[in-house]
Amino acid sequence: MNDQAKPSTIIDTARLRLRAYRDGDLSDLVSLAGTWEVASWLTTLPYPYTEDHGREWIAHVRQVHATGSPRAFAIALKESDLLVGGAGLDGSSGDGIDEPSLGYWLGVPYWRRGYAREAVGALIGYGFRTLGLDTMRAVTDPENAASQKVLLACGLRKVGDIDLAEPMRRGARRAALFRMSRHDLPATA
Ligand SMILES: CC(C)(COP(=O)(O)OP(=O)(O)OC[C@H]1O[C@@H](n2cnc3c(N)ncnc32)[C@H](O)[C@@H]1OP(=O)(O)O)[C@@H](O)C(=O)NCCC(=O)NCCS
Repeated sequence: MNDQAKPSTIIDTARLRLRAYRDGDLSDLVSLAGTWEVASWLTTLPYPYTEDHGREWIAHVRQVHATGSPRAFAIALKESDLLVGGAGLDGSSGDGIDEPSLGYWLGVPYWRRGYAREAVGALIGYGFRTLGLDTMRAVTDPENAASQKVLLACGLRKVGDIDLAEPMRRGARRAALFRMSRHDLPATA
């Protein structure tokens, strides 16, 4: 089946498009996700990141889009459709708690343009309004200042720290826990 024939969920923001991955994203996915600057803050992203990892992930995300209620997305620039990162509500917080968990990353060349805030804000709105979630969480390395700013700006609150079964890639054994309920959703998110 080609890309056009696949059912796929699209979330548009002012500058970005959250969508399923396309075959043409593979080389950008491997080069953007495959850097230590990105992977070191994430627990589930493979490192080193190979073409096989990329192909598997692209196929997986397409598969979840075919269900009609996907929780994983590519982040692309709306104007050019160029891949810049990934985001999802399919993360794991590493403490065995089964609550939808936000995960996101942007390729280094796309940092500090407000893209994460834009993409994560839209994903949160989708999670509560379209998927009908009641609550969601996110965990970050306590040193990850950028990620914590994104979460706070998007309406999550820091509720404490959690012990991790496995240390994070930069060595942290505890992670900052952020949560949000649908009642916290700002009217404009
Ligand atoms: C975290 C990440 C997604 C942020 O992306 P981004 O698009 O650069 O973030 P934004 O431009 O929306 O910036 C959000 C805030 O963080 C700040 N920020 C961005 N990079 C920063 C850094 N390296 N150190 C401190 N603050 C930073 C921005 O200035 C902005 O602050 P403001 O709200 O005061 O204006 C990106 O750095 C990344 O992909 N990191 C690696 C993967 C990762 O950490 N994922 C999250 C795991 S929990």
